[in-house]
Amino acid sequence: MKLKIAVLPGDGIGPEVTKEAIKVLKAIAQEFDHSFQFKYASVGAVAIEKFNDPLPKKTLDLCKSTDAILFGAIGDPRFDNDPSAKIRPEQGLLRLRKALGLFANVRPVKAYDTLLAKSPLKRDIIKGTDICIYRELTGGIYFGEKTLSDDGNHATDLCDYTREEIERVTHLAFKAAQSRKQKVTLVDKANVLETSRLWRKVVTEIAAEYKDVKLEFLFVDNAAMQIILNPKQFDVILTENMFGDIISDEASVIGGSIGLLASASVGEKYAMFEPIHGSYPQAKNLGIANPIASILSAAMLLDHFKLFEEAELIREGVERSLKLNITTPDLNTKYEHISTSKVGDFIEDFINNPKDNNMN
Ligand code: IPM
Ligand code: MN
Repeated sequence: MKLKIAVLPGDGIGPEVTKEAIKVLKAIAQEFDHSFQFKYASVGAVAIEKFNDPLPKKTLDLCKSTDAILFGAIGDPRFDNDPSAKIRPEQGLLRLRKALGLFANVRPVKAYDTLLAKSPLKRDIIKGTDICIYRELTGGIYFGEKTLSDDGNHATDLCDYTREEIERVTHLAFKAAQSRKQKVTLVDKANVLETSRLWRKVVTEIAAEYKDVKLEFLFVDNAAMQIILNPKQFDVILTENMFGDIISDEASVIGGSIGLLASASVGEKYAMFEPIHGSYPQAKNLGIANPIASILSAAMLLDHFKLFEEAELIREGVERSLKLNITTPDLNTKYEHISTSKVGDFIEDFINNPKDNNMN
C-alpha cells in the first residue's frame, strides 16, 4: 500500500516521540513492502515562533493533501504562564481538529499484565481492564463562543451541542461496542446541564438501532470515581469533549503511565493519530520521553487502513518491550536509563526480525 503521511511533531517531546513512531513505520513498510512517504510541517509553539501562527496555511494544506496525519504534542509553558497571550499553541491543534472535521477521538485504555505493579492502583482492581473512550472532539465548551469583558473581569465559555454532532460520534461508539463487549456507558452531567440532557435523549434514540448493545448512563463525577474504583465494568465510554479530555488522563493511571496512551481522531474525510499526552517540556531533549503512545498511535494509523497484521506486529513489539523492561524511566525502576530511541530501536528490530521474536 502507498500512503502519504503528514508528520506534525509539534512542541516539547513531540519531535522525539514522533521520530520513534516513524522509525517503526519505516520498518513495517520494509517488512511488508509498503511505501510510506512522510511530509513534515510545523504546528503549535514552534509554528508561532517561525510563522506567528500555530496552524500555518501550509500545514493545513499539507494535512488535506495526505492520507493521514501523525501528530506529536503541543504546548509550551511560556504561553501557559501568560493568560493574556492572544496567540496560543493549543489553538493549532483545536483549529486543525475543526478544519479537518475530526469529530471522534478514540482512546483505548488497557492494563498490560506486565505493568500491573506500575500503577498506583491495586493489581486486582486493574487486571483485565480494557476500555475504549469515544470522546467527541469538535464541539462543546472547547468550541462554543468565548467572551471576555473589556475590563477583563468577566469571562464565559459556552457549551454548545447540536443533535447532529452527538449522533455521528454515537454511531461510531456503538459500532465499536458491537465488536467489543457490547456495552456503551454515556458519561454526562444530565442532572445539571442542558447539553447533557440532549446527549441522553439522542444517544437513547440511537441505542434503539443497536439492540445487541447495552446502554448505561453515568454522571461524570461518579464516572471519575468508578474509573479507578472498578475500571473493569467499562467497555466503551462515550462522552462529550471536555469530560473525555479529563477522564482519559485519569484512566491513563490504570496503564501505569500516560506515555502509553494512543489515540485516533477521525472524521468523514481525514484521520489524525496522536498520543493523548502533552508536550512534557521538562523532558524535552533528555531522551526520557516514552515513545510508546506515539508508536501505538502509528499502529492505530495502520488499523485505519486495514493493515491489521502490520498494526498487530507493532503491538506485539510494544508488549515485548514492556515485558523485557525495555522502557523509559516513567515505567522503569530496574534498568538505569533506557532512552526514547532505545525503545524505538528495540521495536524496530522486533519488526525486522519477526522470526526470532516469538512471544514465549
Ligand atoms: C488532548 C490535549 C488537548 C485537548 C490540548 C493540548 C488542547 O489535552 O489532546 O487531550 O485538550 O484536547
Ligand atoms: Mn488532554
